Amino acid sequence: MYLVSGSAGFIGFSICLELLKKKKKVIGIDNLNDYYDIKLKKKRNKILKSFKNYFFHKINIINQSNVNKIFKTYKIDKVIHLAAQAGVRYSIKFPEKYIDTNIKGFFNIIEASKRHNIKHFLYASTSSVYGSLTNFPYKENSSASHPAQIYAATKRSNELIAHSYSSLYKLPTTGLRFFTVYGPWGRPDMALNQFVSNIKKNKTIEVFNYGNHYRDFSYIDDIVKITLSISNKTPKNNYKWNRNKPNTKSSYCPYRIINLGGNNPIKLTQFIKLIEKKLNKKAKIKYLPLQKGDMIKTQASSKWCEEITSTFPKIKPSYGISKFIDWHNNYYK
Ligand SMILES: NC(=O)c1ccc[n+]([C@@H]2O[C@H](COP(=O)([O-])OP(=O)(O)OC[C@H]3O[C@@H](n4cnc5c(N)ncnc54)[C@H](O)[C@@H]3O)[C@@H](O)[C@H]2O)c1
Repeated sequence: MYLVSGSAGFIGFSICLELLKKKKKVIGIDNLNDYYDIKLKKKRNKILKSFKNYFFHKINIINQSNVNKIFKTYKIDKVIHLAAQAGVRYSIKFPEKYIDTNIKGFFNIIEASKRHNIKHFLYASTSSVYGSLTNFPYKENSSASHPAQIYAATKRSNELIAHSYSSLYKLPTTGLRFFTVYGPWGRPDMALNQFVSNIKKNKTIEVFNYGNHYRDFSYIDDIVKITLSISNKTPKNNYKWNRNKPNTKSSYCPYRIINLGGNNPIKLTQFIKLIEKKLNKKAKIKYLPLQKGDMIKTQASSKWCEEITSTFPKIKPSYGISKFIDWHNNYYK
């Protein structure tokens, strides 16, 4: 049985849906907060609730006793912890929300996972942990000690807390460093959704860093497939791990960090061209300087992911954007 936190969110919903289709029993938790349109979260949740093997609880993970109740009620095997305050730019305005959910909330879930002997604890990290490093592609062993905003700092903290639990309590943990996930049911605060909505309404889109951003976009179907594959591959102690040359992707204990990105960055202006092509409409663009805390480029080394799962995010942006716009046209009609 899986517990998925953030089940009404974009990635959580997509993962739950796949698990439910595979007839797995899924416990979903989410506080359905108003960071973005609650209607979208409720709509996702309604779809999940139509499965009889889905059990939803509206709880705030900041509240430890609520989290504990869930773990006591169900016999959970695996946890996929995705509930978080996401968003890089928002974290500059509201840092305390990130400390509350991403640090305290994360602690409540991992602590309960330890006490209930969870077989595999997976959690969302992010490409943002690499900060502004320029040694592309980012490897799991690249430094992640220079976060450029509090969002990245909280996610990196999660990885460090996870290591301490894997070390002390032998809790098998896997941190998934997601690289810009997009696709149907995607988040309205993310660039793709905003670009498509505004271009459709003939509104000007804002493009930061004068369009000189590169992102390693990962399509949601790849992310779902790979996350579930990883959930069946529990990390083990790495007996070859060398304390003289510590590699940060694994450890002497059952701990692992994996990039989920395709090593295929695309320039933002090229990404916009693909949107224009699918919409058959020209974008009105306002070019702006780089925003505080933004990364200029992300690029994942996908070798470790491929070693573990025999695959990595491969779906091309032209296909993914087309699928996203089909969904957008249908959902917002
Ligand atoms: N989408 C991406 O490109 C991306 C990239 C890197 C990392 N991530 C991480 O992946 C995870 C999922 O991201 P997403 O894009 O699906 O985001 P999302 O915002 O759509 O989903 C997060 C869900 O968590 C819930 N939540 C937030 N705070 C909560 C709390 N205190 N208690 C209970 N529920 C709470 C929200 O209501 C939301 O439904 C997050 O941890 C995010 O930081 C996402």
